[in-house]
Amino acid sequence: MEVNHVELVMSAVDPAQYPTTGYPEIAFVGRSNVGKSSLTNVLINRRSYARTSSQPGKTQTLNFYNVEDQLYFVDVPGYGYAKVSKAAREKWGHMIETYLTQRDQLRGVVSLVDARHEPTEADVQMYQWLAYYGLPTLIVATKSDKIVRGKWNQTVSQIKKSLNLPNTDNIVMFSAPKKIGQDTIWQWIEEQAFG
Ligand code: GTP
Ligand code: MG
Repeated sequence: MEVNHVELVMSAVDPAQYPTTGYPEIAFVGRSNVGKSSLTNVLINRRSYARTSSQPGKTQTLNFYNVEDQLYFVDVPGYGYAKVSKAAREKWGHMIETYLTQRDQLRGVVSLVDARHEPTEADVQMYQWLAYYGLPTLIVATKSDKIVRGKWNQTVSQIKKSLNLPNTDNIVMFSAPKKIGQDTIWQWIEEQAFG
């Protein structure tokens, strides 16, 4: 999709604040600092629209981006950030769970993992959880520019193994600075949203 117009329409913590326009939605989930905001920026072709940061835990609300008046990207705050309190983590869990399980418009979830490391326990849990609820999921391995090309296949196999991914589910290697992988991700998104 060629994107010219994007607008942050709502930062929501509560279903009453979700947009009511009814466009299909694609959510982006992953650990704090994994690169969710950077990925959405590349997909919408903006340098820093979704706020990116080297400080983990920046995104605290569900941020709905209206893309071309056709769909919403939902930037979900990152999980597994150790420095937040237990109460904050529980609040987070409740907010995410409510959104992911009760949102009719949600068509797919892009789940990010860091290509440089084996998926964490939280990554595995998130993937199993998405599978349990039957949410169509695309695994995106970010920061792949930090890995030499010769090791990409090995990286993909390792992630597949850790997540116990069915062979039919693909992993996309992605790099925000090098802009690698965004076409495949867009294809998947359009298929889920409009297919
Ligand atoms: P939270 O909102 O805190 O959950 O973080 P996030 O997942 O939105 O991460 P964000 O996009 O803010 O990126 C975190 C850091 O990783 C920033 O310093 C980015 O520049 C860096 N980063 C993101 N994607 C890539 C990538 O593909 N390659 C490299 N080398 N760095 C990246
Ligand atoms: Mg973010």
